[in-house]
Amino acid sequence: MANYEYLKEIEKYGRENKIPILLDDSLEFIEGILKEARPKRILEIGTAIGFSALCFSRFLADDGRIDTIEIESLRVEQAEANIEKVGVQDKIRVMEGDALDILPYLQEKYDIVFIDAAKGKYNEFFEHALRLTHKGSIIIADNVLYKGYVLSDYNKHKQRTAVTKLREFIKSVEDNKNLETKLYEIGDGLIVAKVLN
Ligand SMILES: C[S@@+](CC[C@H](N)C(=O)[O-])C[C@H]1O[C@@H](n2cnc3c(N)ncnc32)[C@H](O)[C@@H]1O
Repeated sequence: MANYEYLKEIEKYGRENKIPILLDDSLEFIEGILKEARPKRILEIGTAIGFSALCFSRFLADDGRIDTIEIESLRVEQAEANIEKVGVQDKIRVMEGDALDILPYLQEKYDIVFIDAAKGKYNEFFEHALRLTHKGSIIIADNVLYKGYVLSDYNKHKQRTAVTKLREFIKSVEDNKNLETKLYEIGDGLIVAKVLN
C-alpha cells in the first residue's frame, strides 16, 4: 500500500539540501495536466531524489508505470530508498546513467515525457522524446527560461552556452508543425508540447 505521507519529508529534505526538485507552482501545473491525461506510461529524464516521479505516480492510470533516468549514483540510491519508503517500487523504475546513453535503448512509446536534466542537452533529449511518443502524447520540459535569461537580451554570462542552447531548443519545439506547443512563465519556465499525429 503506497504511503504518500512521506512526500512532505522528501520535499523538505530536497529543499533544505538545495537539490533542484520541482518548484511548487510547476508541480501543481504539471499535476493538472496529469490529472486530465491519466497516463499509463511516463518517461522522466532527471530523477534527482525521486520527488517529482513520486508526485506523478499518484496520477498514473491503473497499471501505469514511470521510467526515470538519473546520472548520479548517489541520487539513484536516494531515489530508490524514497520510492521504497513510499511503497511504489512496482510503479517507478530508476535507470542509472547518462540519459543520452540510455535513451537510444528505449523502444516503447510513452504518454508523457518529462525533461528535467542538463539544460545543455535538451535538444538531444527532445529528439528522443519525439521518437518515444505517439499521437496525443505530451512532452514537458522544465527550466526552459533559466531564471529569465532565455527571454532577456542577456548574453554575457558564464551560462551563455546553456542559454543559447535553450533558445534553440524552444525554437525547434515551437517550429515543429506536428506539435501544439505552449510556453509558460511558471516556475523556471515550462514548455508543454502535445504530439498531433
Ligand atoms: C532538476 S534535477 C531533477 C529534479 C526532479 N525531476 C524533481 O523535480 O524531483 C536534474 C537531475 O538530472 C540529473 N542529470 C543531469 N544530467 C543528466 C543526464 N545527462 N542524464 C541523466 N540525468 C541527468 C542531475 O544529476 C539531477 O539530479
